[in-house]
Amino acid sequence: MDLITTLEGLVPELEKGLDQASSLEELENLRVDFLGRKGRLAQVMGRLPQLPPQERPAVGQAANSVKERCNALFEARKHVLEAGREAAALARFDASLPGRAPWQGSLHPTTLITEEICDIFKRLGFDVASGPEVEIDHYNFEALNMPPEHPARDMQDTLYITDTVLMRTHTSPVQVRTMLARRPPVAVVVPGKVYRRDSDLTHTPMFHQIEGLLVDQDVSMAHLRGTLTAFVRAVFGGDTQVRFRPSFFPFTEPSAEVDISCCICGGKGHVNGEPCRVCKTTGWVEILGCGMVDPAVFAAVGYPEDVSGFAFGLGVERVAMLKYGIGDLRMFFENDVRFLGQFA
Ligand code: PHE
Repeated sequence: MDLITTLEGLVPELEKGLDQASSLEELENLRVDFLGRKGRLAQVMGRLPQLPPQERPAVGQAANSVKERCNALFEARKHVLEAGREAAALARFDASLPGRAPWQGSLHPTTLITEEICDIFKRLGFDVASGPEVEIDHYNFEALNMPPEHPARDMQDTLYITDTVLMRTHTSPVQVRTMLARRPPVAVVVPGKVYRRDSDLTHTPMFHQIEGLLVDQDVSMAHLRGTLTAFVRAVFGGDTQVRFRPSFFPFTEPSAEVDISCCICGGKGHVNGEPCRVCKTTGWVEILGCGMVDPAVFAAVGYPEDVSGFAFGLGVERVAMLKYGIGDLRMFFENDVRFLGQFA
């Protein structure tokens, strides 16, 4: 049989083989068998040198043509098999299965409580103000009636940057800044970070406060009491009891600390017969400091003598701990998502 006939015979044979090849692996085996270096086509071509030279070009042309047709047949079959493989994969894919929900973040409890408290005071007519965390001595201390030798300025408490520049130790300097910028009547709350040289189980070098300041004519302690009672009941519930204890701050006179009935034991001092760890069985927990703005502070900002006002300052983490029953202050700063996710 002449070589050209043999070559042409490869095509229908391959077609038969391709029809039976049911996987890409079988297809590859077939390709090696027909077109590989020692395959059927190569074997036929190996006999080319035995031909008389004048017959060789025609056989070479026939071989190329057969090779091209074979390649085309392989490609076509390959497409069919690949499409089948994809369809099989899709058949195993259940589009009705619920997807994996993307992980959703949540606001930090400090942010949540800050927003909640500011909203309460906004409803009472207060504006929200702010001031710098790096503060000068004058606003943090001096204008708040804390003369240079006052113990609150001691290096133990204050993080100094220079002799006169420091990290604010409370939000009260924003009282001064607000009064220097605005004439009475003034009603502001000031959320923000404050810094103290303090670090143990119940103190962190940075924590959050919210300052309140209201200045007008004829503002009395009764207004302070009413405002803070409304605030406490909005945060902790309408049954919460409030008590004012005499205290001292250089920038308020008189001054008080406010206690609320313990929200963990309901003021009973015990939970299921066990002593309450939050209020240490007293039934009361301290929540903020406050008082009537000292006339010396009004003088420092050039306010007229006929105004009066009240101020208060509270620790945001402390309110959050009491409200949510969080026992460890460090939780607020570790950013453990297992903790933070509970406030979503
Ligand atoms: N600034 C005080 C503190 O940090 C709190 C306070 C503010 C007290 C306003 C009275 C009035 O302890």
